[in-house]
Amino acid sequence: MTARDMAVMDPVTATAAADADMARAFKPSPHLFSEQYGLQRSATQIAPGSLWKFQMQRQTDTAPLNDSSSSYGLVSRLNHWIVAAAMIGMLVSGLVMAYGPFERETVFAIMGWHKAIGVLVLAYGIWRVGWRVVQGFIKQVSVMPRWQAIAAKVTHWGLLVVVLAMPLSGLVMTIYRGREVDVFGLIIPAQNKIEWLANAAGLTHQYVAWTLVGLLVLHIGGALKHHFIDSDMTLRRMGFRAA
Ligand code: HEM
Ligand code: HEM
Repeated sequence: MTARDMAVMDPVTATAAADADMARAFKPSPHLFSEQYGLQRSATQIAPGSLWKFQMQRQTDTAPLNDSSSSYGLVSRLNHWIVAAAMIGMLVSGLVMAYGPFERETVFAIMGWHKAIGVLVLAYGIWRVGWRVVQGFIKQVSVMPRWQAIAAKVTHWGLLVVVLAMPLSGLVMTIYRGREVDVFGLIIPAQNKIEWLANAAGLTHQYVAWTLVGLLVLHIGGALKHHFIDSDMTLRRMGFRAA
């Protein structure tokens, strides 16, 4: 017998039955329950007597696209992992071109992809970094020594700067060496050569790449320490099953 059937007989029993129905209909994880779902029941008498219509609503206005003070919204989590994967891929492809054992033709082919995807990373990175600046950083999961909190802050800001500095320096180096960039058919035209600018951008591209390696060692090491040693929510709240 459903809540609706019972409602015909007895609104009080029906209220309890509707609650049970709701509990069955919505089974979010305990973390998500309070923040992501607002369960609302409205009981509307639609006919004289005892016929009640129960509605179960999932509120959408509380959907966590934005960050709260202590959890990352969906946009931040997607942004983080899309850009993380792209930056690690770009870093590896750059290092393989520079120090790998490949022939000139292979390096040339990798270079084409490196530049095209790198420009897309720049475009997406502007949105990703802008979103973080607008949303601000959220609270740390746990109380930690001051130096650790400062190290995390500096690393996060450093990574945000690198997300823009790497593709921008690559682009400036390339076009001011007088070469165009073909982004899957969209051409960014070559500029008149400016040697000092291209060289400065090239050096930036190289040094910032190694800075990124250092920041990632700290960043990934920190995330793993929180997860496996402190056993806290730091890594889980950046995942897709956590609040
Ligand atoms: C999105 C982030 C990017 C990362 C993480 C990245 C990473 C790297 C790395 C690690 C190297 C090797 C550096 C070395 O010699 O030690 C490299 C080389 C290079 N990258 Fe990128 N890159 C990015 C974006 C771009 C973009 C957007 C362009 C151009 C449109 C570009 C053009 C180049 C070129 C031309 C080289 C060869 C350097 C040379 O000829 O001296 N990169 N990149
Ligand atoms: C396997 C690789 C990675 C892991 C496991 C990881 C893990 C995490 C975790 C757990 C947080 C949340 C920290 C907190 O809440 O205090 C975080 C935040 C952050 N991560 Fe990563 N991360 C990785 C790669 C990257 C990469 C490649 C970048 C950028 C180049 C990056 C940039 C950031 C930034 C800027 C934040 C601060 C919050 C935000 O704006 O998203 N991460 N990361």
